[in-house]
Amino acid sequence: MTIRTVLVTGGAGFIGSNFIRHLMANHDYNIINLDKLTYAGNLENLKDVEDNARYRFVQGDIGDAEVVGELMSDADAVVSFAAESHVDRSIEDPGTFIQTDVYGTFVLLEAARQAQVERFLHISTDEVYGQSIGDQRFTEEDPFRPRSPYAASKAGGELQCHAFRATYGLPVVIARPANNIGPYQYPEKAVPLFTINAIEDEPLPVYGKGLQIRDRLYVDDHCQALDLLLHKGELGEAYNIGADNERNNIEVVEAILEMLEKPKSLIRFIEDRPGHDERYSMNSQKIRALGWSPEHDFEAALEKTVEWYKTNRPWWERIRSGEYRDYYERMYGRRLAEAKPYEEAG
Ligand code: NAD
Ligand code: DAU
Repeated sequence: MTIRTVLVTGGAGFIGSNFIRHLMANHDYNIINLDKLTYAGNLENLKDVEDNARYRFVQGDIGDAEVVGELMSDADAVVSFAAESHVDRSIEDPGTFIQTDVYGTFVLLEAARQAQVERFLHISTDEVYGQSIGDQRFTEEDPFRPRSPYAASKAGGELQCHAFRATYGLPVVIARPANNIGPYQYPEKAVPLFTINAIEDEPLPVYGKGLQIRDRLYVDDHCQALDLLLHKGELGEAYNIGADNERNNIEVVEAILEMLEKPKSLIRFIEDRPGHDERYSMNSQKIRALGWSPEHDFEAALEKTVEWYKTNRPWWERIRSGEYRDYYERMYGRRLAEAKPYEEAG
């Protein structure tokens, strides 16, 4: 396989921007970043690479066959992040998720087939398995049981990748990563939201009793794993990417408060997310057998993340002054007003 140009979709978002930075630093590829710049896309995430001669940004929709077809003819490989990515927004407006995560993925696959690209790395999610019950740890052979509109749309996108492999022989590889944390994550997601609220002495809205469990993967470790899969992943195969950093949400919130030296009285237990998955837990032996392992344990991953938000206030202040304000009020206004203070909730 000879890669000269990589088409990255969704590269202005959280993981995509970290991955572009990783690719630029570790390879001499040309990179085309196709991103629609939804509320989650932010070109500030890529300020340090925007003038590099090997980097090109194109604003466009992965569901637009014309734009995608044109860019695909210049690409040898595709790494596809573009998606609507937030579970709570999928509960409000599932249609947008079907449009991008399912239909948009189909448009990319079809264009990749026509252009005969050499590699198509699709970023799926651990949420396709649904929630882990008890000690269940998913392997790549486990069935899909998605439970949120987001997870179902990601499952739909991934299933098309497998169909394009089986039917047309498209050289697809699939990544199923755990919850990422790190720099440039939009503060609708739990860790940046809790961190920024704590810095600002605002309440931290914890869903239900805060006992749901997630595996926190530092975004740089994820980028290393994706680099490996792009070059060494077996065609047609899916790979779990977990860090074995499982913690429940209360443990995460308490760790953030401790790092920022803020009181637990900022915690509020609010009405739960409908259909809230209790736990995601994966066995990641398959990618570890290829030679990958994460460098960051939970504490190191969280510390670096909290530190980044502490020192990059202008980045998140600009976000919080825009669309985010309406979103926050819609999502949390009533629930926070009805929440019990931390002491009363026990
Ligand atoms: P994000 O929401 O931060 O970024 C998504 C990017 O995609 C944004 O830049 C947005 O503008 C762009 N985009 C959205 N719709 C588009 C469209 N129709 N056409 C072109 N661009 C579009 O998301 P993220 O957290 O960086 O996640 C990236 C990918 O990784 C997603 O596919 C997500 O499902 C998957 N994933 C994320 C996590 C996580 O913890 N964040 C974990 C597992 C998998
Ligand atoms: O597991 C991979 C998935 O991780 C990705 O596919 C998704 O794109 C990504 O958004 C993430 O999904 P989660 O729903 O797990 O992440 P989120 O940050 O929204 O929530 C993490 C946990 O924190 C979850 O149990 C819900 C809880 N939570 C979240 C928010 C936003 C709260 O308690 N309060 C909150 O305000």
